[in-house]
This record gives sequence, C-alpha cells and structure tokens, in this order.
Amino acid sequence: MGLRRTILNEQVNFPLCLAPMVGLTHVALRLMVREYLPIDAKTIWPTEMLNSRRLPNEDFARTPETMRAPQEENLVPQILGNEEKAVGESVKRLIYEWGASGIDINMGCPVQKALKHNYGVALMGDADYAARVVEMTVKNSTVPVSVKLRAAPQPAGVRNLQGAGGDEDSNAYLYRFVMKLKEAGASWVCLHPRTAVQKRRGTADWSQIKGLRETTDLPLIGNGDIQTDEDAQNMLVQTGCDMAMAGRALAARPWMLWQFGERLGFAAPRGKEGRCAPRGPIEEGAEYGRALLQLIDYSDQYFSEELAMRKIRFYVRTTSVWLDFGQSLVGVCAKAKNLREMESGVRALFEAPIEMCSYTELRQ
Ligand SMILES: Cc1cc2nc3c(=O)[nH]c(=O)nc-3n(C[C@H](O)[C@H](O)[C@H](O)COP(=O)(O)O)c2cc1C
Repeated sequence: MGLRRTILNEQVNFPLCLAPMVGLTHVALRLMVREYLPIDAKTIWPTEMLNSRRLPNEDFARTPETMRAPQEENLVPQILGNEEKAVGESVKRLIYEWGASGIDINMGCPVQKALKHNYGVALMGDADYAARVVEMTVKNSTVPVSVKLRAAPQPAGVRNLQGAGGDEDSNAYLYRFVMKLKEAGASWVCLHPRTAVQKRRGTADWSQIKGLRETTDLPLIGNGDIQTDEDAQNMLVQTGCDMAMAGRALAARPWMLWQFGERLGFAAPRGKEGRCAPRGPIEEGAEYGRALLQLIDYSDQYFSEELAMRKIRFYVRTTSVWLDFGQSLVGVCAKAKNLREMESGVRALFEAPIEMCSYTELRQ
C-alpha cells in the first residue's frame, strides 16, 4: 500500500503526512512529529498558511511561521493569495531563499477575512479564477505546485455556499474544478471533504475523495476524520487516494507515523531502533507526555519565552481532548509563569499514568 502516484518527488515513499494548521504546524511541532517518522520513510511537510501579501517583505529567519530547521526536507509551504505580483514574489523567495521543495495553494480557508479578499475557499466558487491563481503560481515556480481544496457543497443543490460550488452534483463539480487546476499546471491536489459551512466539524465525506480518484489521474491526497493509523489505512484503501493527511490527531499522537510505518513494513524511527510503537491507552498517554516535553524543548530553541508558552498552550488545548483529565494539563500550562515552570508541571503530571484514547469528538 505504498504511494501509487508521485507526490512531490520520487523520494517520497510514505503515504501519510501532517496537515497545514495555523498556530500548530510550526518548526517546533514539525521537528517533534518528525522524530516519529520511520528512519527509511520520506513524506512531505507543510507550514502554516502564509499570506502572500506579507511574504515578499518577511524576515523568514525571524518570523515564527517561516522558521525552519536546516535538517528539514521536502517542505511544501502553503500560501494564501490571488494577486500575481505578491504570489510571484512570494513563490520565488520561498524557493530560492527558503528552500521550498513544493508550493501549496490554500483554497480551503473559510474565514471571513479570506472570503473578503477572494482567496481561500472563495477560490472554489470560480474554477477559471482558481485556475488563474494556479497558473500565476506555476509560472513563477521551479518546483511542483499543489492545491488544498474543500468539499463541493453538500447536499448537492445548495447554491453559493460561502463561495464554493453551484448547484451541480458534488462529484461533477469537483471533477470539473480539478481538471481546470490540472490544465493550469497543478501537480497534485489535497481534498478535505468538509464544506466551508462545516468548517472542521461533522463528518468528512470520503466518497468525494473516491469520486475524484475515479475520475482523474492527478495525484491525490485525502484528508479529514483520520484519528488513527487504521483510519489512514482505511482512507487509502476505501478511496484509492495516494496519500492520507492528518491534522489534529497527528499533532496529538505523532507516533501514528511510527504505528502506520509498522503496518507498511518500515523500520522504527531514528533513536527508537528495535522498539515497537506505543499502543494502548497507558503507553500512548506516557508517550504524549514525552512528546510534549520534546515540543517544549524545541519551542524554547526557536521562539521567545512568551511566544513558546502561547504556542504550547494552544497545542495542549487542541490535543488534550484525547487525554483522560486533559483539563488538568490545560490548567498546569495556563498557570505556569515561565517555560521552566511549564516543563516541571508537565513532568510532574505525567509521573502518574494518564490514559489516552484513540478517538474523540473533534470540535475545534
Ligand atoms: C487549528 C487549525 C488550523 C488550520 N489551519 C489551516 C491552514 O492554515 N491551511 C489549511 O489548508 N488548512 C488548515 N486547517 C485545516 C487542516 O489542514 C485540516 O484540513 C483539517 O483540520 C481536517 O483534518 P483533521 O481532521 O485531520 O484535523 C486548520 C485546522 C486546524 C485544526
């Protein structure tokens, strides 16, 4: 069950990747998650979404969203935008100054600000316009360009749902839309089949991923409702997509990469040779504690103390929903006056066993 079609390049051989998430997919989280990637596996790595209006003047090394570590490879930063000059300058800087291996265009962001500027999910309301944004990106890029999409409106027949779609059948709409992106030069697409109105709640409609797989040969990443390595496998098998992408659950349980690797016959991650991936509530709860301490350490290396604490608190609020007594952890992190206090509070809390479950209701 390896990659069927090439995503990014021939070296990418692992069909599970992390999702772009504002406030979460920063260098510290990527480094922490990467520690659980099997030693012989290569996948792609996103950034948080980056605004192309700001990128041309950004100090990449000092801006938290564009910080990167030298050992990071296969980085595919995500841009938000629709203006040729800003997109062109952003893309060139990301490739030549920052080392992007690919460029991803956001066509899924449902927030009002993105809709007002006519980018994010607004681009899904007009296939020709979306294709022009891909064209202007490809024209300025020497690396592959991809697009992250949301679902076509559901149920079919809903008109102008926050800018996405029309009243066509969802699969037909997506097919027509993706064909235009392909003609414009997109190398692959990622589909998160929740509508703009659903935001990140409710069920992701995997049948739209399957529908797209059956109608186009463009490499395809599926996203949404993956909480375990078994879910990742089910998505690949049931939809036929080439790679699965997980956001919140992979941030919370990064060893899902290791577990998934075991299923596929990959070796253990570096430094974990000869060991099996944690499984079950007790082992996974303990691993959460270790991963969080590692995240605190990386955040300390890259961010100011205040920013590191803010980012860790956000991480803990988002991911502690899988933990028994997750609220105690949120409390410990909220109360800490500095990073050392946060670290010792976390250490103390995880001295006793804390159970972690595999499934939770995702609300955020
Ligand atoms: C806090 C947060 C921030 C997000 N920011 C972005 C973003 O910047 N760009 C994007 O394409 N999707 C963004 N998303 C959506 C995720 O990439 C993903 O599509 C969504 O969370 C569904 O996957 P999941 O259920 O595995 O989390 C964000 C999601 C979360 C939870």
